[in-house]
Amino acid sequence: MVERKPSSTVEAGLTALAVSLRGVTKTYDNGVMALGPINLAIRKGEFISLLGPSGCGKSTALRLIAGLGAPSSGIVRVSRHEGGSQAGHVEQGHGIGFVFQEPTLMPWTSVRDNVRLPLRLAHVPKAEALARADAALGRVGLADFAEAFPRELSGGMKMRVSLARALVTDPDILLMDEPFAALDEITRFRLNNDLLALWRSLGKTVVFVTHSVFESVYLSQRVVVMSARPGRIQADIRIETVEPRGEEFRTSAAYSDYCRRLSAALAPSYAGQSTL
Ligand SMILES: Nc1ncnc2c1ncn2[C@@H]1O[C@H](COP(=O)(O)OP(=O)(O)OP(=O)(O)O)[C@@H](O)[C@H]1O
Ligand SMILES: [Mg+2]
Repeated sequence: MVERKPSSTVEAGLTALAVSLRGVTKTYDNGVMALGPINLAIRKGEFISLLGPSGCGKSTALRLIAGLGAPSSGIVRVSRHEGGSQAGHVEQGHGIGFVFQEPTLMPWTSVRDNVRLPLRLAHVPKAEALARADAALGRVGLADFAEAFPRELSGGMKMRVSLARALVTDPDILLMDEPFAALDEITRFRLNNDLLALWRSLGKTVVFVTHSVFESVYLSQRVVVMSARPGRIQADIRIETVEPRGEEFRTSAAYSDYCRRLSAALAPSYAGQSTL
């Protein structure tokens, strides 16, 4: 969970935005210029993917949105939780769930306690926290595994636990950093479908980072292609198809066309990179 000081700035036109980056750059202390400048506006409820080569600053961008680091220049704005102070008031806020590439579960305790952790840290009363952890596990199809330990789960199940832990605080925005990269293809497809179903039912804004053109097209309403470091936005492509999308989309001509377009948009980002 991310808590940030409220900003006092109210900006017209940002009411429907979940996230806005304006002129954002990031240079690390060691002098590596990782990102930008980038300008990006993400609407509330949107499913957007950041696609780009290794090292182009995708994780850096997610961390800046999560408030896990400050930009070197520019402005990052994240909309406040629904029910916050003034309607339409855009502030640096909370309400962010983060799913990392590794499930990062505590091995010594149960699945339920792993999912409950963010609520414990927020001092939510135990009975309520347990009920919410069980509800989150139900949402990701793991209701029967609450008592299990992480070592007893497959890679896909661990990722589901990680997703449940991110959902347990009911965040408005879900940031996902290559969550399915280590999974086999069938498990990945299943998790893709389950994630889409969750997104449709929960209405959250999802910012999804991936290396995979295919995954980005399948999942997203919009794919932002980033250039090699320092990452900038090279293309911003809307994926339009009949919703709700499912397996038939994966085998459609429209899907192949989008994959071709995105591969072409991505190609310059890999130019000059070693293929080793
Ligand atoms: N804490 C840090 N200190 C210094 N340099 C960093 C730090 N974190 C990332 N970098 C550098 O910033 C650049 C962007 O890193 P980042 O992790 O954002 O890339 P990425 O697009 O997520 O890559 P990948 O797809 O491999 O995960 C890289 O060159 C990386 O070495
Ligand atoms: Mg990364």
